[in-house]
Amino acid sequence: TAEKIFVNNPSCMGMTYDDLIVMPGHIAFPVGDVDISSNLTRNIRLQVPFVSSPMDTVTEHQMAITMALQGGIGIIHSNMTAEEQAQEVLKVKKFKNGFILDPMCLSPDTTLGEVLKRKADLNFSSFPVTDTGKMGGRLIGIISNRDSAFIEDPNVKVTEFMTARDSLVVAKDGVSLEEANQILKESKKGKLPVVNDNDELVALIARTDLQKNKDNPRASKDSHNKQLLCGAAIGTRPDDKKRAQLLADAGVNVIVVDSSQGDSIYQIEMIKHLKAAHPQVDVIGGNVVTPSQAHHLIEAGADGLRVGMGIGSICTTQEVCAVGRAQASAVYHVAKYARKFGIPITADGGIQSTGHITKALCLGAGCVMMGSMLAGTDEAPGEYFYQDGVRLKRYRGMGSIEAMNAGGEKRYVWDTAQSHVKVAQGVSGAVTDKGTLRRYIPYLMQGVRHGLQDAGIPSVEASRDRLYNGTLSIKTTTPLSYILQAAMGQCSTLPSEGR
Ligand code: XMP
Repeated sequence: TAEKIFVNNPSCMGMTYDDLIVMPGHIAFPVGDVDISSNLTRNIRLQVPFVSSPMDTVTEHQMAITMALQGGIGIIHSNMTAEEQAQEVLKVKKFKNGFILDPMCLSPDTTLGEVLKRKADLNFSSFPVTDTGKMGGRLIGIISNRDSAFIEDPNVKVTEFMTARDSLVVAKDGVSLEEANQILKESKKGKLPVVNDNDELVALIARTDLQKNKDNPRASKDSHNKQLLCGAAIGTRPDDKKRAQLLADAGVNVIVVDSSQGDSIYQIEMIKHLKAAHPQVDVIGGNVVTPSQAHHLIEAGADGLRVGMGIGSICTTQEVCAVGRAQASAVYHVAKYARKFGIPITADGGIQSTGHITKALCLGAGCVMMGSMLAGTDEAPGEYFYQDGVRLKRYRGMGSIEAMNAGGEKRYVWDTAQSHVKVAQGVSGAVTDKGTLRRYIPYLMQGVRHGLQDAGIPSVEASRDRLYNGTLSIKTTTPLSYILQAAMGQCSTLPSEGR
């Protein structure tokens, strides 16, 4: 049992994912029935327990949108200005709604040049035009790609080429999503503005959203206005409070306090501040690898914990600082402790295969956070390049010199003003092309389902019960007894697989 391996283990050895294997169980259900839904935080449950890491080569809005559409969640990195990060969150929140309750509107004075810039910045194709330039103003037209396609002068005002109000099909406030869908079908329009009795814009419905809604039954959405869930990372400096305010204003659902060693007075203070100032936003504290670290962050009010120190694929923290913990042990011990308080944990880093995900879940993790596994997908920031005929994307540690120079050092250095010498705790590299997340996430999900099925476990919840009631069998893959004997001088050579 896990208890035997992690607690009653006289060698005190830390276990990595590769040191362990889950023993098979009895299969009494089809693979498609394996339920992998799980909690990220106290209040956020995901259909797919996958989280993309807040790293500047992993999660910006495209990654976060696709992760959420696939049932997981993305955490937007903070290696950019607070305003830019809030914009990234806004792009995720605005991406897909049943009803878009606060569509980006244009005023009658907006020029074609400004429209084109907004289109590029926001990835939107159409904008309603209202007399105030805001939601709630009187609807006077809509701009779509077709309207602007043949205009060349960037200074022309929208009123000269928009589709004006009298040619628009609109719905009245109170329309249901089904009725709206029907109107869009019959009118063959792409957008349906919803107006009140004063002809003021109260919502916008997009045909593509309705379509996408159908295609993504697992999507992670808030129950309130059905926007995609989105997370964002912040540091623990005083100016991060302003960053958090902008993120909360943009509608962020979860803030990850991003630190390689989370058990600090700075983080405790930040968690307390966040919970008081933004009670609607869940907070994930970390990173931690021991119950005593976890205790401080839970006491401060964290709704979830991020577990892992120095075990990521681009990490050198364990070499440079000699501090950290083998990840399977960290996940087991922190998850077991946090469970007493109803706090889920996310196993962060070191995931290299679907098998590692299954192990993390079986050891008590609610979700897994991935960097290198996702950095090679189409949705990760950056362009592909070729090296020796292999298609790659750049991937770098946030503690690498390169990322620190771009602002990433806040995760590793508390007092930048006093720290003139930079000590890298990560490296830069590249990962191979993985194609689109839309195909890759279903592949990862299915791999995990097969793993749980082989172990005879029908759901992540059930794995939890089996873990703690001692009916989940785990074996060490390293022959521990030989290592122990060697350590005690009882045998001089190790079998090759034990070295
Ligand atoms: P994977 O293994 O998924 O790990 O690529 C991603 C996680 O690694 C952490 N991270 C770092 N750790 N130095 C470190 O020691 C770094 O430069 C670094 N950058 C990221 C982070 O927790 C991430 O989610």
